[in-house]
Amino acid sequence: MKYIFASPAMKAVQSKIRQVAPTDSTVLVTGESGSGKEVAARLIHEQSGRRRSPFVAVNCAAFPGSLLEVELFGYEPGAFTGAQRRHRGLFEQAHRGTLFLDEVAELDLGLQAKFLRVIQERRFRRVGGEAEIEVDVRLIASTHQDLKKLVEDKKFREDLFYRISVFPIEIPPLRRRPEDVVSLAAHYIEHFNREMAKRVEGVTEETQQILLNYPWPGNVRELRNTIERVMILRSEGRIRPEEMPLEVITGVERLPTADPEIYIPRGTAKIQEEPPVLLQSPAPSAPAVLPGAPAAPAPPAGSAPPAPQVPASPTPAEDSGDGRDPLTRADLKHLDRQVARFEKDRIKAALKLAEGNQSEAARILGIRRDTLRFRMKRHRLMK
Ligand SMILES: Nc1ncnc2c1ncn2[C@@H]1O[C@H](COP(=O)(O)OP(=O)(O)OP(=O)(O)O)[C@@H](O)[C@H]1O
Ligand SMILES: [Mg+2]
Repeated sequence: MKYIFASPAMKAVQSKIRQVAPTDSTVLVTGESGSGKEVAARLIHEQSGRRRSPFVAVNCAAFPGSLLEVELFGYEPGAFTGAQRRHRGLFEQAHRGTLFLDEVAELDLGLQAKFLRVIQERRFRRVGGEAEIEVDVRLIASTHQDLKKLVEDKKFREDLFYRISVFPIEIPPLRRRPEDVVSLAAHYIEHFNREMAKRVEGVTEETQQILLNYPWPGNVRELRNTIERVMILRSEGRIRPEEMPLEVITGVERLPTADPEIYIPRGTAKIQEEPPVLLQSPAPSAPAVLPGAPAAPAPPAGSAPPAPQVPASPTPAEDSGDGRDPLTRADLKHLDRQVARFEKDRIKAALKLAEGNQSEAARILGIRRDTLRFRMKRHRLMK
């Protein structure tokens, strides 16, 4: 399995993975949908002494409570109608290996209690069974929800929370790691070149800028799907902006996400006189997205080595803090798009500050409420 990253944030994640992998500690992986939680869990397993034993993944959101219990713990014959033979549950299947409990926040309170007991005692009973079964299982849990908040709301047991959050790893959303957008795009272009027998060389510099401006609400999964979709129609050369899906081009998300914090540049929550941070969207250190860029495999034999298309931009790479880099030509392109992006971010920030109250948000922004509503519609911020 390939783990593609170039960002400082993901380097930190990788080093956490490396440190915790060889231990038997329970790990809690958090992050938005599609950000790579399961990839992280699999890496932990693969880098642990349990790598030759099973990695068993179960999505707690996929089963209603009673079914999940049967899935996890198995059952004895006669436990319920139709239970004719003994069934080993996922805990047993993961013996000596790793059990990955995806969407752990979805466990109902009854199952949480049972689960806590297994974690504490490393033993359990099959449904309808008497015998205690001992298991040696390393647990990794994951969620895209705020577990602490669920604890406060009494929807998640506090004791279980502490048990599973021994070692938390947070996977940052893709929009906070532009370097990874570049590496992942290159990786997936290479991947689909192989899969579709094509020779796409990368993306144009303009396309790369679009990729960097888009907030990727679906994270890595969305980036992967986008590249796949574009590559169905192209066989070689570089991917041009007009080939990208419309919402990516306009920098507008398809669905308003539940997370109001999405892509609000640092410091903009308080409305203040400040130049739009987004105009300086961090350019990658590589001049263009090319197959063979960091972490991507070699281009297929026969394809000409792609020549960098754009003169190297000044190297912003890392968070420039307050020392602003001079804006490059690329930064200044697409004024309308950038202004739209900026407007949307500010509207979101105002709505957040106003706790969703539109009249209040309009007051903060100094515009009329119907103007705000019109613009919210335009940015698809309205349900
Ligand atoms: N750093 C990475 N390198 C390579 N591929 C990645 C990386 N991160 C994520 N992916 C890919 O992105 C997709 C989504 O990753 P994954 O399933 O791990 O996300 P998730 O956080 O578990 O999402 P969900 O919350 O929706 O279950 C997968 O195809 C995965 O292979
Ligand atoms: Mg997942």
